[in-house]
Amino acid sequence: MDKIKKLIAKKNKSKIVSLTAYSKNIASILDNYCDIVLVGDSLGSVLYNYKSTRQVTLDMMIEHSKSVRMGVKKALMVVDMPHNTYRNPKEALKNAKKIISKTKCDAVKLEGGKKIYNSIQTLIKNKIPVMGHLGLLPQSDKTFKFKGKKKSEREKILKDAKLLEKAGVFSIVLECVETSLAKYVTKQINIPTIGIGASNNCDGQILVFDDLIGLNPINARFVKKYANIHNQIKKAVSNYSKEVRRAQFPSKKYSY
Ligand code: KIV
Repeated sequence: MDKIKKLIAKKNKSKIVSLTAYSKNIASILDNYCDIVLVGDSLGSVLYNYKSTRQVTLDMMIEHSKSVRMGVKKALMVVDMPHNTYRNPKEALKNAKKIISKTKCDAVKLEGGKKIYNSIQTLIKNKIPVMGHLGLLPQSDKTFKFKGKKKSEREKILKDAKLLEKAGVFSIVLECVETSLAKYVTKQINIPTIGIGASNNCDGQILVFDDLIGLNPINARFVKKYANIHNQIKKAVSNYSKEVRRAQFPSKKYSY
């Protein structure tokens, strides 16, 4: 069974584990524990301090993905198509083909529903596997609030999820979606939902890796910090600095 079929088969059986990676060494660790490794355009804010992921370019995504590809051997590797690279089917196909050929990733992810239906359909017709992304859409939303409070929002997300399933996406990320809506959407479609800030009712979860290890200074409700790497790095660098200043490093052991 190919990786995508295996992933879909997990629905209602076992939870799907996903994380983001932007480079090889981290990706090679995640590969042992994740079903999906996503090269997310969140790299714009996490690594480059951009105010918005809208500033991320296709070339940036390709270069980071080439690095990640070297570390991912088992998991499904998905790459985000950045803002303004899939405004119409022709543009989407050209850019998705470029991402796939340069990075050898397994699939691409696009943000949105009805508006990008034709682009998604074109990619899938051309045998490019697509992951959807609904709820909070960082590439196009003006405010970053959770979705599903208003009836209109709930109806739109459900409609879009069904539409994306019809277009043939293999999975949908639900970002910052209210608990009961995430549960309902997950029940209403036959492909896995992957939540981030969307409760444990989704078929799987994704987090930004730098958030999970406590390296990225973010304080969002949906982020659980499983480590405090920031402090560990501080300690290591501080010790190195002290030893260099005292001429204790490098000692004989580290010299030729
Ligand atoms: O860009 C990203 O990292 C993402 C995840 C948060 C789902 O889209």
